[in-house]
Amino acid sequence: MKVAIYPGSFDPITLGHLDIIRRAARCFDKVYVCVLYNCDKKTPMFSPEERLEMIRRSVAEIPNVEAELFSGLLADYAREKKASILVKGVRNATDFDLEYQMAAINRGICSELETVFLPASSAYQHFSSTMAREMIRYGQPLEKYVPQAVAEALKQKTE
Ligand code: PNS
Repeated sequence: MKVAIYPGSFDPITLGHLDIIRRAARCFDKVYVCVLYNCDKKTPMFSPEERLEMIRRSVAEIPNVEAELFSGLLADYAREKKASILVKGVRNATDFDLEYQMAAINRGICSELETVFLPASSAYQHFSSTMAREMIRYGQPLEKYVPQAVAEALKQKTE
């Protein structure tokens, strides 16, 4: 059984993330989407619980995908889940440079842990959670870029 982890901050999950999750779910028997802490992103817009809830609602229809929170080292979470694969979406050369280093670090921590890069679909190449947060701050409609669960959560927050 091939178990994969798709880790990230997901602040909030975007359609680009969801596209990677769907594709990973076709490649592996089980995919855990893991909301983790990124120490470079100190002021999240959504709490970890809100992010998890938006992900859970977005992946509800994909049978071999589960979403969880974890605070700690990604490699420890992978060990706990008996996962041998980390999935990372790559949009451009900047993502690749960072993820290439991260893959080496994670393999250094746990030698059995392989990172698999999935190239972002062209429709989502220019979009990120950072862009989503910027658009939210300026009240811009986001339906084209985020799952319905995020749009609904935002509506509830602003009502
Ligand atoms: O969506 P992001 O913010 O680019 O995801 C980055 C994330 C959360 C995957 C990364 O910061 C991470 O793995 N954090 C957990 C701590 C860890 O294991 N760091 C790498 C080895 S030191």
